[in-house]
Amino acid sequence: MRDAQPKTIFLSEYKAPDYGISYTELHFELFDDHSLVHARLHFKRSDHASDTATLVLNGQELELQALALDGETLASDDYELSDDFLCVSGLPASGVLETTARIYPQSNTSLEGLYRSRGLFCTQCEAEGFRKITWFPDRPDVMSTYHVTVDADARQCPELLSNGNLVQSMELPGDRHRAVWDDPFPKPSYLFALVAGNLSRVEDTFITMNGRKVRLIILVEEKDLDKCAHAMDSLKRSMRWDEERFGREYDLDVFHIVAVDDFNMGAMENKSLNIFNTSCVLAAPDTTTDAGYQRIESIVAHEYFHNWSGNRVTCRDWFQLSLKEGFTVFRDAEFSADMGSRSLKRVEDAMVMRTLQFAEDAGPMSHPVRPASFIEISNFYTLTVYEKGAEVVRMLHTLLGEEDFRRGSDLYFDRHDGQAVTCDDFVSAMEDASGKNLSDFKRWYSQAGTPELTIRDDWDAEQGVYTLSVSQETPATPGQSDKEALVIPLAMGLLGEAGNLRLTLDGEAPDPESADNTHRILIVDKPEQEFRFSGLPECPTPSLLRGFSAPVRVDYPYTREQLLALVSRDDDEFVRWDSLQQLMVSALQELQAEPHRVSLDPLLEEAVNAICSQSLDPAVQADMLRLPSETYLAELASHSGKADVHGIFRARQALRQALAETFRERWQQLFDSYRVTAPYAAIGEQIGARALANVALDYLATGDEQGVSLAAQYYFSADNLTNRLVALRTVLREGDAALGDSLIDDFYARFKDETLAMNHWLSVQAENTSGDSIARVRALMEHPAYDSRNPNKIRALIGAFANANAVHFHKHDGAGYRLLGEVVETLNEQNPQIASRLLTPLTRWNNYAQGATLMRAELERLSELPSLSPDVYEVLSKSLA
Ligand code: ARG
Ligand code: ZN
Repeated sequence: MRDAQPKTIFLSEYKAPDYGISYTELHFELFDDHSLVHARLHFKRSDHASDTATLVLNGQELELQALALDGETLASDDYELSDDFLCVSGLPASGVLETTARIYPQSNTSLEGLYRSRGLFCTQCEAEGFRKITWFPDRPDVMSTYHVTVDADARQCPELLSNGNLVQSMELPGDRHRAVWDDPFPKPSYLFALVAGNLSRVEDTFITMNGRKVRLIILVEEKDLDKCAHAMDSLKRSMRWDEERFGREYDLDVFHIVAVDDFNMGAMENKSLNIFNTSCVLAAPDTTTDAGYQRIESIVAHEYFHNWSGNRVTCRDWFQLSLKEGFTVFRDAEFSADMGSRSLKRVEDAMVMRTLQFAEDAGPMSHPVRPASFIEISNFYTLTVYEKGAEVVRMLHTLLGEEDFRRGSDLYFDRHDGQAVTCDDFVSAMEDASGKNLSDFKRWYSQAGTPELTIRDDWDAEQGVYTLSVSQETPATPGQSDKEALVIPLAMGLLGEAGNLRLTLDGEAPDPESADNTHRILIVDKPEQEFRFSGLPECPTPSLLRGFSAPVRVDYPYTREQLLALVSRDDDEFVRWDSLQQLMVSALQELQAEPHRVSLDPLLEEAVNAICSQSLDPAVQADMLRLPSETYLAELASHSGKADVHGIFRARQALRQALAETFRERWQQLFDSYRVTAPYAAIGEQIGARALANVALDYLATGDEQGVSLAAQYYFSADNLTNRLVALRTVLREGDAALGDSLIDDFYARFKDETLAMNHWLSVQAENTSGDSIARVRALMEHPAYDSRNPNKIRALIGAFANANAVHFHKHDGAGYRLLGEVVETLNEQNPQIASRLLTPLTRWNNYAQGATLMRAELERLSELPSLSPDVYEVLSKSLA
C-alpha cells in the first residue's frame, strides 16, 4: 500500500465536543456551474471545555470565500484551514461564526454531500457528507435547529425543499425564487436535507392518533406519477402501526418522500424530507416484482420509523450506528410480519442472516454489532450492524416479552428524547423497565462472530428423562481471539410420534406464555449446560432454534428420519423449512461427492411429498420447495472447509433435475392450481400463490422441452414483472440460446424506457450461466441501458455478476475477478462507497480452494493503485492482512 495511510478511529477515544451549535442558519444559492453556501453557526462552548478550546469544523472539497466572527472578518492567524478541517481559536464562550463556501454539485460523483441526479439537486449527508456542503462539527452528538434559505432558478427548480416547515417563499430577480424552511427539532447534521428541481407531487393526508392532520407528499419525476400509490399506502400503514404498536406519533405537519435515480443506498431518513432511491419508491406491475413491492413497503416503513428511532433519539457517535439501525430494522421487520405472514418473514430474514451475515461474520471485515474501531464509517453500513443488530434487539424482545419490551422502548424514547445516546443507554432502559440484569447479554454488542451451539442428547427410557447438553463457542475473528459465553435464547420443542410433547423442564415452572406447554425458551448462557426434561412417554426429536430465536449456528446430529419427522409434523414453520433445507443440503453434499449418483433419497422424497400435500401458506411452501442457494451452500462449505463453486453448481443442477422428474405430476398440479389468473395485484394471497406456481414452473421446465415452451408462453402472457422474470430466467437456463436471446430482445423492446425494469434486464443477463457471461457483461457495460455512474446499474450488472453468477465469477483463469477489479478501480475515484461495497465477493478469497490465489492477486493489484480512497483502502488492507 502506498501513500499516507488513512487513520483508524477508536470508540475508546470518544470525547464530547468542546462546542455545541444551538442554531444553524444556511443560505444556499444554487447555480448550474457552482453553488454558494452561506452558513451562520451559533456556537456555545461546552461546560467541560477550556477557555482556549479550538472550534473544530469538518469541511471537505469546499472553497472558502468568506469567514467572519460576530460580523468581523477573521484574521488569518485566528484560523487554520486544511483539506479536512477549519479550526478556529481565540473564540468567546458564544457567538456566531459565518462562512461562505463555494461548491460544485454538478461534478460531485460520490453522491455524498450536495449533488445532482438527472438535473435535480439533492443531498446525502449520512454519515459524513454534510462536511462536503459547509464547515460544521459533522458528528451526531452536535445537535442544532436549522433555518434554511434556498435560492435557485425558478424554471429549472420549481420545487425547493428542506427539513421542517416552509415559512416563506418569494420570487427573486432574474427568474429566480426562494424558499425558507425552519426545522424546530434539534438534529445532527447527518439528517440535514435539501432538494431542488422539477418534480411532480402526489399528496395525501394522515390524521394522527391525537387528531393532528399531516400532509404526506411524494415527489417524483412527472413520468413516474402513476407509480407512487404503493409507497403512499405503505407510508400510511407505517404511521398507523407505529402509533398502535410503539405509541409513536408523527411530530410535524408535513412529511416528504423524494425519489432520486442516483443514490448510493436504499433510502435516507432526513427529518421530514426522506430521500429515496427510485427503486425503493416506484412500483408498477410491469416494472416491479412482488419482492420489490414488499421491499418498498418495508423501506418506506423503515425510514418513517427512524423519525423516532434515529431522529428524536439519535446516536452519540458512529460506533453506535446499530442503536438506530438495529432497532429500526427490528421495527420494520415486526411491521412486515404484522402486515403479512409472520413465519414467512422469519424464514426470509433467517435466510439472509445465514447466507450473508454469517459470511460477513466469518470474513476479514468481521466486526461486532457495535464496532470498536473503523477507518471509514461508510464501510460499516453492514448486515452485521443492520440485520444482526436487529436480531440482538429481537432477542431482547424474546427475553423480556412484548409487554416489558414495550415499557423499555417507551422509557428509552421518553428518557432520551432530543439526545444523542449509546447502545448502553438503550439496554439500560430495557433493564430499568423490566428489572432484568442484562449486563451479560450486552456481550452481543461487542463480540464479533457467529456463535455455534453444539447440542447432544440423551434418552433415559426407564425414567422418561430426556437431556439436552448444549455447549456454545464463538470462533475467533480478526482482533478478537478469546470469546466469552453469550446469552442465547434457544426456543425449542420436543416432537413425538403424534405431535409436539408437553414439556416439563427440571427445576422450572411451566411457561405461562405457551398455553399448550409444548414450547420453551431455554436460556443458554454458559460454555456448557444441560437441560433435563422429565415425564416423557417416548424418545423425542428435538425441534431447535424455533423461529430462528438467535443468530447462531446449531450443530445437532439429526438423522434423516428425524428431519423428515420435523418437516412433516413440527409446529414451527421455521423448523419445518430448515429441516427440509437440511435434507436437501445433505442430498447435495452426496451429489457433490458422488456426481453420478442417480437415485433420490427416499426420505427427501417423502419430505417433499409431505410439504406438497399439506395445506400450508403457499409462500412458505414455495420457500420450502426451493433449493438452497449456491451462496448459502458455499457459505456452509467454507465453514467446514473450502467451497467448490463448480461442484455446488453441478450438484444443484442434478438435484433440481431429480426433483423435477420425480415430482413432475405434483409440479403440474401445483402450477395449475396456484397459477394466478386474476389481474395482477401486489397482495399477500396473490404473491404467495405466484411464488408457489413459479417454483412449480421452474421444476416443470427443468430438462423438459414442453416445460420450456410452457415457460416461454408464460413469459408472453405475463401481466407482471414477477412472472415474466421467472419465465425468462428459466428459459435462459433450460432453453436453447436462440429462444433465450429472443426473449431478451423482446424484454428490451417492451421496457427500454423503464430504467427500473432495465436494471432487472441487466441482472438476468449477468446471472445467466449459459454461454460466455464475462463477454456478455463486458458488452452490456457499453450498452445504452447501462450507466457507469449510476449505483443501481452498477449493482444490477456488476454486482449481480459477482454475487449471483459464481461459476463465471470464479472462472479458473481469473477473468471474472479481473472484471470486478477493473470496475472497482474506476469507481475508487468516482464513487468510493460503491467501489468498496462491490469488492465484497473478492474479500472472501479464503473460502475457496481453487480461486484463492487469483482472488488475492487481484486484491493485491488494487492495493498498489495510487490514491486509494479510505473506503477501498480499509477493505483491501483488512482482506489482505
Ligand atoms: N440511514 C439510512 C438507512 O438505513 C442509510 C443511509 C446510509 N447512507 C450511506 N451512504 N452510508 O435508512
Ligand atoms: Zn436505517
